[in-house]
Amino acid sequence: MSSNLSPIDTAKFVAAKRAVDFVEDGMRVGLGTGSTAAWMVRCLGERVREEGLRIAGVPTSTRTAELARQVGIRVISLDEARWLDLTIDGADEFDMDLNLIKGGGGAHLQEKIVATASDQMIVITDPSKQVEHLGSFPLPVEVIPFGWQTSKALIEETLASLEVLGQTSALRMNGEAPFVTDEGNHIIDLYLQRIGNPRQLSMVLNQIPGVVENGLFIDICDKVVIGHQDGRVEVI
Ligand code: 5RP
Repeated sequence: MSSNLSPIDTAKFVAAKRAVDFVEDGMRVGLGTGSTAAWMVRCLGERVREEGLRIAGVPTSTRTAELARQVGIRVISLDEARWLDLTIDGADEFDMDLNLIKGGGGAHLQEKIVATASDQMIVITDPSKQVEHLGSFPLPVEVIPFGWQTSKALIEETLASLEVLGQTSALRMNGEAPFVTDEGNHIIDLYLQRIGNPRQLSMVLNQIPGVVENGLFIDICDKVVIGHQDGRVEVI
């Protein structure tokens, strides 16, 4: 599976491969979304097919559900699973406290629900996602379509009152149309540069009417597995 990969895919692949070593027979596993998580789903499928590993996977997006079925993983819903042993997912940024920004792929709502319902969350990544302070990556905020422009204005007003650096925001687009999440919602991306107090920002954003969930994952991630382009893997 690993031959002829580009350096960045090698990093993602080795992180994914190491992380699936933490999956044991009988586990219920949350399956993240994104290009790194897709490597994890393929690696897990390989263990299911080759070792007869019996697991149930709870996908965090329609994309991941489709891939999981293709590679032979038994897919169940979160309501069937109720609680999960482990979730493995990618991230857009992580800091030294293992707080994250997620949602670059627009799936952070399901990802946060699934990760929170898990005994353990492991993030798989390449080193480029490690930051001193969260915020260089645009922070996604999922809003319902009704009155989204009002929600966006309220978000901007809130950011101004918090004196957060950089307060521009933009509706995420998919070509000419607004991006639509698996839940039928839109995403407002916040360009903040640096988030001083991620816990406070997350709580405040989620209180704005129309906001469904933001992409800050605070105290949810337990471990980060970093894959390097030369094939080395670090676990922190
Ligand atoms: C999707 C996510 C992804 O995990 C995140 O965007 C990282 O993706 P990739 O592994 O493709 O860089 O949060 O909502």
